[in-house]
Amino acid sequence: MAAQPVTSVKDQSLDECVKEIILASSLHDLEKLEVYIDQHSFPDCKVVDVQDGETGHSPLHAAIASCRPAVNGSVAQDEGAKGEDVAATTVKFLLENGAIWNQVDHNDETPGCLAYRLGLFDLYQLMVDAGVRAEMLLSRLEEYGRLNDDESDDEDDGTEAEAEEEGETGENHEPETVDQTQTATVSTAQDVSSSFYLSSALALSNNKLLDDQQNGVMMAWESDIMRRSADALLSEPGMQILNIGFGMGIIDSYIQDHVNAPASHHIVEAHPAVLAEMRAKGWMEKRNVVVHSGKWQDVLPQLVAEGETFDAIYFDTFAESYSDFRDFFSEQVIGLLSQIGKWSFFNGMGADRQISYDVYQKVVEMDLFESGFDVEWDDVALPDLDQEWEGVRRKYWNVHSYRLPVCKFMD
Ligand SMILES: C[S@@+](CC[C@H](N)C(=O)[O-])C[C@H]1O[C@@H](n2cnc3c(N)ncnc32)[C@H](O)[C@@H]1O
Repeated sequence: MAAQPVTSVKDQSLDECVKEIILASSLHDLEKLEVYIDQHSFPDCKVVDVQDGETGHSPLHAAIASCRPAVNGSVAQDEGAKGEDVAATTVKFLLENGAIWNQVDHNDETPGCLAYRLGLFDLYQLMVDAGVRAEMLLSRLEEYGRLNDDESDDEDDGTEAEAEEEGETGENHEPETVDQTQTATVSTAQDVSSSFYLSSALALSNNKLLDDQQNGVMMAWESDIMRRSADALLSEPGMQILNIGFGMGIIDSYIQDHVNAPASHHIVEAHPAVLAEMRAKGWMEKRNVVVHSGKWQDVLPQLVAEGETFDAIYFDTFAESYSDFRDFFSEQVIGLLSQIGKWSFFNGMGADRQISYDVYQKVVEMDLFESGFDVEWDDVALPDLDQEWEGVRRKYWNVHSYRLPVCKFMD
């Protein structure tokens, strides 16, 4: 499409510019977009990140929304509607110019959510890939920030106590240059920090365990996932298994009652109220059970030092960050899992929207690979969960099926 003359870009009001940019994006007019990118700047955001006042659409949303699906589900080729390939060029152009991949519109949809809802799977995949790149960049910068912190701690002994405290509360260590809006995922923010959670009161009922802010720590609808996870790990009788995070004891009960009963069953749990419940229910006295009270960060290095190894490990904690989880598998599993052992984890990262779930699957796969693990995924269909959230502060699950991971050391 030929570019309209835009020689007066600098004289346009902000509103006019925004309208023109969104329109250019929906018409896939790259020449015009380029003129705006070169000639215009906004006080609060980049040209590629402006948002339409009415819909909240960014240029990425506009480019995707221009592909209207026809009744049969394929993309319409009628006048005005564009095919996914044309829109893909615009989407790539916007991303190359730094567009935020996960900006939400007034419908609380990211450009990827919109593509998913419209069934535009090539465009959806482009947005997933953009999310993966942004997350990998963020995690590398976090690591770099942590290394810098460690180096400056070595140089300045006086800051040691402060640094430890920051680590414990899960605060981020990004260098100042990181553009948080561009990299952070929409849905993996922690609701509470680990230290806050571990000192909060808990409420246990038949179907859920809540903290004192009504955050769901564990819910009974996850039982089938726990059963399938125990089945995936306990492939023969007499194994040594380690579970991290007791919660409602659902997976631990499946492990105890399994046809392939384990020879020994270690459990690590840090919350005093959960430990009190375990004591009351007799878990400390079970014949093949060893309960370790404390955070896995303290307990596991001790087990490694004692030379303990396990045939199977399961990990499901609460109020911890992705980098805690990465530390778990890159530093602890390596020392605790037998060479032919299997391990799994509760795969709930980013589960409050499909695109975050898909982005995290790829990020985890890459990090597992880097730590020397292969992973296989098994899809578990979930029932309708709409009734489950009464009294729970945030619906943390919005994805239709669960992807159950089983990890092993690479051959
Ligand atoms: C989601 S629940 C686990 C649910 C469990 N899989 C089940 O089947 O019921 C998370 C548990 O991890 C515990 N936890 C959180 N952080 C921990 C840590 N750093 N070390 C050990 N346990 C932790 C919590 O107290 C909670 O009991």
